Amino acid sequence: MQIRAARTDDMESCVAVIAALPDYFTPSTHDDVRRELPTGPAWVAVAEGTVIGFVIAPRRFHAAAEITFAAVVPHRRGQGVGTALVEHALAALASDGVVVVEVKTLDASAGYEPYVATRAFWEQRGFVQIDCIDPLPGWEPGNPSAIYAQAIQP
Ligand SMILES: CC(C)(COP(=O)(O)OP(=O)(O)OC[C@H]1O[C@@H](n2cnc3c(N)ncnc32)[C@H](O)[C@@H]1OP(=O)(O)O)[C@@H](O)C(=O)NCCC(=O)NCCS
Repeated sequence: MQIRAARTDDMESCVAVIAALPDYFTPSTHDDVRRELPTGPAWVAVAEGTVIGFVIAPRRFHAAAEITFAAVVPHRRGQGVGTALVEHALAALASDGVVVVEVKTLDASAGYEPYVATRAFWEQRGFVQIDCIDPLPGWEPGNPSAIYAQAIQP
C-alpha cells in the first residue's frame, strides 16, 4: 500500500469509496468530496493501483485544519489503512505549520451503532472530544455533532 497526495483524477475513485459506505455517508456528501478534493490538501491510499481510502484535511485558520473526510473501502477497514492515512496527513499538516486539527463526527447521544467504531478510531488516534453541538449548522436535524480536536505540535 502507498499513501500519496491526491490528484484531481482520483476524484471519482474517492467518491466510490464513500458510495460503498452508505451507513456513513449520504449521497449528498458525494458532491462535497468533488468540491473539496481539488483544493485539499488530501491524500489517498493506493493498493494494486486502486484507491482504497482517502483523507481530506483543509486548512481552516492560520494554524488549524479540519479532517472533513476519512474513509476506507469496507473490505480493507480494520487493517491499518485509516491509521496510515491519518498519520501521514497529520505529519504533513504539522510540517506545514498546523498546530491543531479538528474532526467532526456523529455524537454517541445519537445512539447510531456504526459510529461507535468511528469514535473509537479517532480516540485511538489521539483526538479528544471537546464539544457536542446539536444542531450543527449545515448538518441534517437529529445528527448531534461530536467535535474532536488534537494538538499535533506545541
Ligand atoms: C474510520 C476509518 C476511516 C478508519 O480506517 P480503518 O482503516 O478502518 O482503521 P484502522 O484499521 O487504521 O484502525 C482501526 C481502529 O479503529 C477502531 N475500530 C475499528 N473498528 C472498530 C470496532 N468495530 N469497534 C471498536 N473500535 C474499532 C479501533 O480503535 C482500531 O484501533 P486499534 O488498531 O488500536 O485497535 C474507516 O473504518 C472507515 O472508513 N469507516 C467508515 C467511515 C467513517 O466512519 N469515516 C469517518 C467519519 S468522521
